[in-house]
Amino acid sequence: MKKDLRKILIIGASGFLGHALVQTLEKEFHIEGTHYSNPVKIGNIYSKKLDVMDEDSTNSLLNAINPDVVINCAVAGVDLCRQNPAKATGINAMFPEKLAEWCSISNAQMIHFSTDLVFDGINAPYDELSEAHPLSEYGKTKLIGEKSVLYRYPSALIFRLALLYGSEKGFISWLHKTLNSGKHASLFIDQFRTPLYVGDVCSIVCKALKPPFASGLYNLAGPDRINRMDIGKIFAKTYGFSLDMLKAEEMSKRKHYEPRPLDASMRSEKSQKRFSIQFHNIRNGIKAMAKADPLFKENRCIRSLQIQVKLALQMIAGGKLSQNEAYRQIDLVKKNALNMFPKKGTTFDLIYRPRFIRLIEEVYGKHNE
Ligand SMILES: NC(=O)c1ccc[n+]([C@@H]2O[C@H](COP(=O)([O-])OP(=O)(O)OC[C@H]3O[C@@H](n4cnc5c(N)ncnc54)[C@H](OP(=O)(O)O)[C@@H]3O)[C@@H](O)[C@H]2O)c1
Repeated sequence: MKKDLRKILIIGASGFLGHALVQTLEKEFHIEGTHYSNPVKIGNIYSKKLDVMDEDSTNSLLNAINPDVVINCAVAGVDLCRQNPAKATGINAMFPEKLAEWCSISNAQMIHFSTDLVFDGINAPYDELSEAHPLSEYGKTKLIGEKSVLYRYPSALIFRLALLYGSEKGFISWLHKTLNSGKHASLFIDQFRTPLYVGDVCSIVCKALKPPFASGLYNLAGPDRINRMDIGKIFAKTYGFSLDMLKAEEMSKRKHYEPRPLDASMRSEKSQKRFSIQFHNIRNGIKAMAKADPLFKENRCIRSLQIQVKLALQMIAGGKLSQNEAYRQIDLVKKNALNMFPKKGTTFDLIYRPRFIRLIEEVYGKHNE
């Protein structure tokens, strides 16, 4: 039995943020969600196909569902904006305006999202009164979207988001997949953002759905001004990856098609005060991600053991360990592996322990079986 009978439509439920919002809100609200090219089933919610560029179908869907609240997570990303500015303007600017008009006429609550990339990076950190000067096509279309939504429907609520992290999508998820596959990750050292845990956006949206309803523009940003390399180091340490897998890169030296702000950090005192919320700092946000990951503990242990084996191998290769000492060291690592997961039937026991022992045996033979 849902606690709240209002019907909420999440447009773009198949995306990074939309997916997280459906997961959070479906416990309490009646949710309908849409996808464009990737149908999703989240809990008991099956997404409905919607192309927001198709005005007739969009109106039909809105009128058929007749939601009390519309949350717009549909977006044309940076690449599409560069490749097809006309389509991107349709998705990021014209559609939000039409949606605002529909919500205004239907008296529905509207929540829309914008981005820290509406800023040029010269006068960071930015608050809600700072003037926006987007550098990229993406930033430009998103800024037009913000302005036209509030022009058509001043009661709409717009959250301007910093770089998001915290699920199977987004920057940290890319980093996780890259490191997991054994590849190095190139990370910028000269661009600063204020990364925001996606769980905090979900919490604030929950609060925004309760009266008294907020309207206007709110920045949502984490408390840390940080570059991607330092985010990578915190992630790698928490998840047990070697820091050697991270390679520093200067964004200003990379040949981008478009300029990007070097410092897009935002301040979010206004939203913290209005919604009585403290945002996770990056360390705690990454820990919260890890806590929600059922395989985190097993994966972290196996990686730390692999690093120990690698170190032992390097010491042998460098002549710093005799063969007998090396065997002793490997035995110790192996004993640690066995002690770490004494319970039979854990994921480690079934999958990782045999794989790990095989790895040691491949390198050293079955000397101590
Ligand atoms: N991710 C970040 O770090 C970040 C940072 C700042 C601001 N934001 C803002 O947060 C909001 C959500 O971003 P996100 O990262 O969740 O984006 P995302 O993962 O790229 O998801 C975009 C969503 O839009 C849908 N979509 C794309 N074209 C569509 C179309 N023509 N008609 C209908 N739906 C369409 C996609 O559907 P399919 O996947 O099914 O094709 C998907 O559900 C956006 O307003 C974005 O500007 C995000």
